Amino acid sequence: MEQNTERKKVIFSAIQPSGTITLGNYLGALKNWTAMQDEFNCIFALADLHTITVRQEPAKFRHNILEAYALLLACGVDLDKSIFFMQSHVHTHAELAWILNCYTQFGELSRMTQFKDKSAKHADNINAGLFTYPALMAADILLYQADLVPVGADQKQHLELTRNIAERFNGLYSPTFVVPDPYIPKNGARVMSLQDPSRKMSKSDENANSYVALLDKPEDILRKFKRAVTDSEASVHYAEGKDGVNNLMGIYSSITGRTFEQIEQEFAGKGYGDFKTAVGEAVVEHLRPIQERYADYIKNKDYLQQCYRDSAEKALAISIRTLRKVMKKIGYVQ
Ligand code: TYM
Repeated sequence: MEQNTERKKVIFSAIQPSGTITLGNYLGALKNWTAMQDEFNCIFALADLHTITVRQEPAKFRHNILEAYALLLACGVDLDKSIFFMQSHVHTHAELAWILNCYTQFGELSRMTQFKDKSAKHADNINAGLFTYPALMAADILLYQADLVPVGADQKQHLELTRNIAERFNGLYSPTFVVPDPYIPKNGARVMSLQDPSRKMSKSDENANSYVALLDKPEDILRKFKRAVTDSEASVHYAEGKDGVNNLMGIYSSITGRTFEQIEQEFAGKGYGDFKTAVGEAVVEHLRPIQERYADYIKNKDYLQQCYRDSAEKALAISIRTLRKVMKKIGYVQ
């Protein structure tokens, strides 16, 4: 009998605990993470080493890390199926990142739009980590020989660089890394700010009305959607130039599973008030069970600790195999 030797595909993804997790993170990435757990071998991380490329206040940072860990469990990351650890607990990440830095070109890093955006935003702290950040991200992914990386559209350029680094290393030595593909959702890949729909929704935005945090209170979520910037046309349909409405339609579609045509029919002849209320209510109802589960997890610090310690051990056991292979190929004495 022919044996099925095909290995289960490996998924890797991570999120920075740099502030409160938003609906953009959820629709762009997290919703896919949890949906992929049955079919794939999933490895997820809190990218807490990445986070210090921007200055963090220690007590707040510690709080954000634990909050993010509990919240991701509440979103459905299931430790019976997946591994979910903190990047800073698994030393192979920083080690491979150093090595990959030496296989990444200055010119490549200079072209990263996130570097350009963040250095404009934090002009007083354009540190080397901010610049070499994509090499650490490549290390995260390549350590686990990931086939697919579920991310929002803003991470596509970093994924392309990861592929280039992997191919370069494989070409210089011999096949070492799986070259990963991005996995970007059709809908929700780029959730925009509710206040300025030409910019992406971001957890580091100073204006809290521009984003919906997964842990926002229902009344705040409803208010933020009611205040969302739209246009003066008062007609719910998807069209170029209607960035605010397009964004709300994308969110509504992603949450309810309805197509844009169905949404247009649902709100035919109705104004933006009804539409914004419906989007707000759908989001509130979707987040309600997540918020309830979060409240339970965050109370149980011992359980959380057991989870992230177990996962870190498993992550180290997998990733160290890749790191050793890489070091051997480069010529380090074993
Ligand atoms: P981060 O923490 O900025 O975002 C986490 C995930 O959320 C997605 N995302 C969005 N999706 C749709 N609309 C938005 N407005 C939006 N904002 C954020 C991001 O695309 C991402 O998938 N560098 C990464 C973290 C990272 C990582 C990795 C990701 C570190 N190592 C390895 C994948 C693989 C970051 O800062 O994501």
